[in-house]
Amino acid sequence: MDADVIHCQDCSCMPQVDEEAIDLIISGPPYWDYIDYAAYAAGQSRRCPAWSRQRPYPEYLADLRRWYRECFRVLRRGRYCVVNVGSLRWKGRCYPIPFHTVGVLEELGFEFCYEIIWHKIAGGRPDARVIVQHPYPGRYLPNNRTEYLLVFRKDSTTRFDGGVPFRDDERLVLDRFFQCETANNVWHIMPACNPLERGHPCPFPPEIPCRLIQLLSRQGEIVLDPFMGIGTTARAARMLGRRFIGYELEPAFVQQALANLDTPLRLRRPTTCAYQTEGKRVPRPKNEKIRG
Ligand SMILES: C[S@@+](CC[C@H](N)C(=O)[O-])C[C@H]1O[C@@H](n2cnc3c(N)ncnc32)[C@H](O)[C@@H]1O
Repeated sequence: MDADVIHCQDCSCMPQVDEEAIDLIISGPPYWDYIDYAAYAAGQSRRCPAWSRQRPYPEYLADLRRWYRECFRVLRRGRYCVVNVGSLRWKGRCYPIPFHTVGVLEELGFEFCYEIIWHKIAGGRPDARVIVQHPYPGRYLPNNRTEYLLVFRKDSTTRFDGGVPFRDDERLVLDRFFQCETANNVWHIMPACNPLERGHPCPFPPEIPCRLIQLLSRQGEIVLDPFMGIGTTARAARMLGRRFIGYELEPAFVQQALANLDTPLRLRRPTTCAYQTEGKRVPRPKNEKIRG
């Protein structure tokens, strides 16, 4: 089976990948039909209306089922599948995609492990929207500044290490940054900078695949991203000494991903929350460390 490849194909069928051959899955599926990726890939980024091809919501959930059934087939036992999703509002109604995703993946056999809340610092709208126009009780509608990283496992009775003992150089760096940020299930990360100028409407911020790969896989292992976009996961995998396999429907995104594979990702200045206990302030850390 070939690794370090990106297939321009629908990920609901991944014939190039053997059963239980993948060590970690990192995925950011489409959020229903909120973004028309084909239009963005064709260069219509600024004119493309959201929701241009909207299907009924149950059809979207059926797609999620098809995509992650195939992910379940290729994932090794004892290993993790991370799904990045957020809730959507459409015509006055909220669609809690993350919560429905948990149900869909559990039905497929995945075990839900935990959720990490991605707090999109410096992203989103700074205003107070509806409440400003009509500031009375009952009209409160918070700005949505978070997404979820849902972490699932295939068969937690199988050991993660598969019986291959850890080496000393595989120890995670438990520095101040780890204690103040990564160790908690709220991660404070800026959205990717100027995504449209980069040719994709919503690439992962580099910190997301980098952290997940360090925490949930070992050197030399294979990371699958079934929705590879412009290749952020592939670049993170390469930078951290892992191999990757990707699937992506849009040829223009695949081309861009392949062209940038060897350009290392640049992690931004880290931001953390100053967790405090009475009378004692935990000092903020300086750097996010990368270690394969
Ligand atoms: C939310 S974006 C992921 C972006 C990616 N994480 C990155 O850093 O660039 C979802 C991507 O999935 C692609 N896509 C949508 N349906 C797909 C499918 N069935 N199979 C493979 N890719 C798909 C879209 O073209 C889009 O680029």
